[in-house]
Amino acid sequence: MEELIIRGGNPLYGEVPVYGAKNSILPLLAASLLVKGESTFENCPRLSDVDTAIAILRFLGAKVETEGRKITVCTDDVTAADIPCLWMRKMRGSILFFGALLSRFGEGKSSRPGGCPLGERPVDLHLFVMEQMGFSVSEDDNGFSAKREEYCNKKRKFRLRIPSVGATENGIMLSVLTPGETKIENAAREPEIGDLIAFLNKAGAKITGAGSKTLKIEGVSSLKGICHTVIPDRIAAGTYLLAAGTAGGSVTVKGIDESLLRAAMPPLREAGFLVESFPGEIRLTRKGRPLPFSKLSTSPYPGFPTDLLPQFMAVAAYAHGTTLFVDNVFENRFSHVPDLEKGGAEIDVAGNVALVYGKEKLFGMHAQAKDLRAGAALLLAALGAQGETVLTGVEHIDRGYEKIEDTFCALGGEVLRRESE
Ligand code: EPZ
Repeated sequence: MEELIIRGGNPLYGEVPVYGAKNSILPLLAASLLVKGESTFENCPRLSDVDTAIAILRFLGAKVETEGRKITVCTDDVTAADIPCLWMRKMRGSILFFGALLSRFGEGKSSRPGGCPLGERPVDLHLFVMEQMGFSVSEDDNGFSAKREEYCNKKRKFRLRIPSVGATENGIMLSVLTPGETKIENAAREPEIGDLIAFLNKAGAKITGAGSKTLKIEGVSSLKGICHTVIPDRIAAGTYLLAAGTAGGSVTVKGIDESLLRAAMPPLREAGFLVESFPGEIRLTRKGRPLPFSKLSTSPYPGFPTDLLPQFMAVAAYAHGTTLFVDNVFENRFSHVPDLEKGGAEIDVAGNVALVYGKEKLFGMHAQAKDLRAGAALLLAALGAQGETVLTGVEHIDRGYEKIEDTFCALGGEVLRRESE
């Protein structure tokens, strides 16, 4: 296993390129199972989750070529197959491949998906969507299996109990090739869903309502592979900007517009950061000790993103005052708190609520990343801390950030990757 050694205290200056979104390329690669011929994806991120997705496609018999940030996929030779538990358990996004296989072949079985331990993370909404799309679904200790019982041209409509990102994506993939009209109400509105819809519509799908709570899908008989550029990763971009919030300095992210981070901008300005927007760029400059964010409460897009809460908390740990955090999306978004406290942070947690009393200084600590964004938060805190931090669990961070040590070293940080002792 590997660990990062971070020597904090250096202000960060420079530019960070932002590439394709993890939470966009994963559904896009799953959706490549629905199109005939070759699909090409540009601006792809190099992440371990993408490696897992490619391994799943190759196991299923797809031809996948990677060249730089381009991934080319042809799934014409894919035969129905069950995705090995080994890969299903590596990430939450694997459930999208199960949905795409069901859409194409009408039946399949799968173990439960893995992913960040942010709470129970049930899949009931995914199974609900499958049933609404005419599948009979059964569940046992090994996972679940589904078989299409009805495939007729009719109007169907269903409402999601929660605007679940993954269940919305599976609903889209299960209906694009199903005869008739499907309406999904209370659909999630994340930009990554809009990216999936854009790809499918370019391939010949008829999906309307992107960005709204109601999607309407007119089933078509087939889809044709096309070339698609993945939208930038708004969570990675927000993470890099927030590093200037903990360590000081001025960081510019390139390849992304403020429009994708709209909900994060007001609190950053409230904290006293200078946030400047240019076409395709956002710059954050820290001017003195940050002010508290007062209250940050997460909600589905376009609300404040749960995936940036831990990183904002790392900044709040240094603020001149108290910040209240409420995560309304997941039950266990605070796995980084005990390690932040070891570094001198003062944080009270009760359920999905955390009160952070900012400190002028934090100190290096021995920390362990327990999930992707918690790991990023600990790294941000370490960059601003006095002394050395040893951060284990780097495999979690590598799922969503490319060579994160290189990114921060290029900005003037001191981050070293080594085999764990
Ligand atoms: C996606 O997860 C993202 N992952 C997550 O990013 C992100 O935090 C989340 O959406 C919310 O924005 C990918 O896109 C691969 P949900 P997903 O279904 O689809 C409950 C990261 O760090 N729920 O919108 O799993 C669920 O427990 C990751 O990049 C059910 O109850 O999220 C949660 O409380 C972390 N039943 C809420 O809905 C279900 O069947 C939102 O989950 C499904 C979800």
